[in-house]
Amino acid sequence: MKGIVEVEKLQTFYVLEYMGKKKTVKAVNDVTLSIPENEIYGIAGESGCGKTTLLKALFASIEPPLQLFEGKVSYLIKGNFINALTLNGKEKRELRWTYISYIPQGSMSVFNPVKKLKVTYLDFLESHVRGKAGRELLSLARHHLEQLGLSPHILDAFPHQLSGGMRQRIAIALSTLLKPQVILADEPTTALDVVAQRAVLQLMRDIQKELKNTFVLVTHDMGIHANITTSMAIMYAGKIVEVGPTQEIFSNPLQPYTQFLINSLPRIGDKSSKKSVPGAPPSLLNPPSGCPFHPRCPEVSDLCQDKMPALNNSTHKHKVACWLRREPSV
Ligand SMILES: Nc1ncnc2c1ncn2[C@@H]1O[C@H](COP(=O)(O)OP(=O)(O)OP(=O)(O)O)[C@@H](O)[C@H]1O
Ligand SMILES: [Mg+2]
Repeated sequence: MKGIVEVEKLQTFYVLEYMGKKKTVKAVNDVTLSIPENEIYGIAGESGCGKTTLLKALFASIEPPLQLFEGKVSYLIKGNFINALTLNGKEKRELRWTYISYIPQGSMSVFNPVKKLKVTYLDFLESHVRGKAGRELLSLARHHLEQLGLSPHILDAFPHQLSGGMRQRIAIALSTLLKPQVILADEPTTALDVVAQRAVLQLMRDIQKELKNTFVLVTHDMGIHANITTSMAIMYAGKIVEVGPTQEIFSNPLQPYTQFLINSLPRIGDKSSKKSVPGAPPSLLNPPSGCPFHPRCPEVSDLCQDKMPALNNSTHKHKVACWLRREPSV
């Protein structure tokens, strides 16, 4: 069954010019993904592996100096698949604002730092809701915040006057104003303490339940994936190396990289020493040949150095890109 977001062979490369020479950062490298409807879907991976670039590509919003952009990103909207990458400017804007919403990494970038939050809310509403006066729109904004259990008084605050956790929740609230079918959230809980994290996660859960929509949640924090996502993808050096139901990925991680990520999580009462992933992530300017994890993989074979394995095409939802495990054993 197809998902609400279908990604096929997506490439998003940044082409940089340095001392007269062109260099290519292969940030998203041949990604194929199917993101199901009506759930919180996680994307995990180390810093710099391409998570933010993937999310921006899903939103069809990539900044210069990007030069290479290939593949397909389609959304199932009202029963039809729409290719987000081939739409013109107006159609793309409509798709983005009506059906997809994007919460960028770092909530500060969502708001204008020199304007009160109500101005941001009003600007947003005025450009999307026709035929309503400012006062009506403001009461809509107040009502929306109240519905989400947030105090409408914060509309009178400037962004810097709020705590990081509250700002993040307001960013999420703003992203849901038009009840989008897909919300792309980039590290919405990073840099928050656990109490603030819990409030943000609860808000996302509540919104997802209410709207029955899809959240695509990017975070490097595997604990959060275990806590809140239904299924997930593991990204490494611009590639997806494992996908599946979150519970299965945690109970039976197949890629050695995923095993490292999960085994490094602390568990209450477990005093054994944790093995972190050996070595450092590769440069995406010149990723290793074959499987990009092979230089760090304890189980590396000759084949791994030569050729990148595709995600296996088993009918099972749990799939892995690894020469050692062509079929999941579950
Ligand atoms: N605008 C840009 N121009 C050039 N290179 C970029 C640009 N944005 C990102 N990159 C590069 O693309 C690669 C992937 O970056 P990206 O921000 O997508 O990673 P990430 O997984 O989101 O990392 P983090 O967890 O630290 O947020 C990195 O090598 C980064 O340096
Ligand atoms: Mg990022």
